[in-house]
Order: sequence, then structure tokens, then C-alpha cells
Amino acid sequence: MKKSISALLLLALLSGCSQAPAPPSGPSAADLLAEGAKVYTKTCASCHMADGGGVPNLQPDLNDNPVVTGDPTTLIRVLIQGPAKVLPPDRPHFSNTMPSFAPTLSDEQIAAVLTYIRQQYNNNPSAIDVQKVAVIRNQYGG
Ligand code: HEC
Repeated sequence: MKKSISALLLLALLSGCSQAPAPPSGPSAADLLAEGAKVYTKTCASCHMADGGGVPNLQPDLNDNPVVTGDPTTLIRVLIQGPAKVLPPDRPHFSNTMPSFAPTLSDEQIAAVLTYIRQQYNNNPSAIDVQKVAVIRNQYGG
């Protein structure tokens, strides 16, 4: 008897859980893009320009850029560590220096701005995940 009551209770609990709405798992894609546009304008446009086009010899063009559209881990590391520590030594040379943004941007701001430059300048709709930024910040410092 006791057993079947606790089994019933367990059943009630379990079905209660399965009916609860799933908690929102982070910002929606639209939120990320809106936030990314803000971060870009404030933090990146002074060097990479509002249209992402950069300035010849000073800062790279982010349009149709293989680093931006490529491996998310490398792209996140470019912001967390700064490009000089991450990109191959034989890359094209630019006379300006891009700092690490680990001290000034949150994981969510980094995910947002990278998602924004992938979609806005590269037609790559795959978003950069906030959790992935957190993992890479842990691993590579910042
Ligand atoms: C002070 C100027 C400056 C600012 C501000 C700046 N960057 Fe850069 N960025 C550069 C330079 C210079 C390079 C090339 C660095 C190198 O190759 O060592 C670069 C490289 C990159 C790259 C790698 C692409 C490539 O072809 O090398 C990405 C991606 C990037 N920046 C994104 C951003 C984002 C996103 C922001 C804003 C959060 C930002 N940058 C802010 C100057 C800047």
C-alpha cells in the first residue's frame, strides 16, 4: 500500500514536471542580432567601419571574410585573446592592432557581435553560442 502511494506521488510529480514550460534557454536569435548591432556600432565600427569594410592596410574588411565565417572557436578566440595570438603569422599585415575584448565585453556581448558580423557581412546565419563563449573564455583566459 505504502509503495503504491509513493509510486502515485512520483507519477504525479513527474507528470507535473513534464507539463511545466521549458525555461527560456538564453537570448533569442533576434535579441542576439539587435544586441550585436549595438555592440558593433559602439566597439568595432571605429576601426572596421559601419559597413564592415575596414580601411586598407589599417584594419581588415569583415565582409566575405573567411575568419568571420569559419570555425567559431577561432573566431571567439580572436575577440577573447586578440587576433595576434590566434591567427597564423603569415596572414595579411595590417598596421593597426586590435586589442583583446575579454576585459570589456561580456560573453553575451561577444556572442551577439560575432553572430551579427557573420550574418550582416557574410551571409552566414549560424549564430555564435553564448555558452561556447563562456567555455572558451575559461580555456584561453580573459
Ligand atoms: C583598434 C581597431 C580595432 C577595433 C576597435 C576592432 N578591431 Fe578587429 N581587427 C583590427 C585589426 C588591425 C585586425 C587585424 C589584426 C591582425 O591580423 O593581427 C582585426 C581583425 C579582426 C578579425 C579577424 C579578421 C581578419 O581577417 O583578420 C575579426 C573577426 C575582427 N577583427 C572583429 C572585430 C570585432 C567584432 C570588433 C569589435 C568587438 C573589433 N574587431 C574591433 C582592428 C580593430
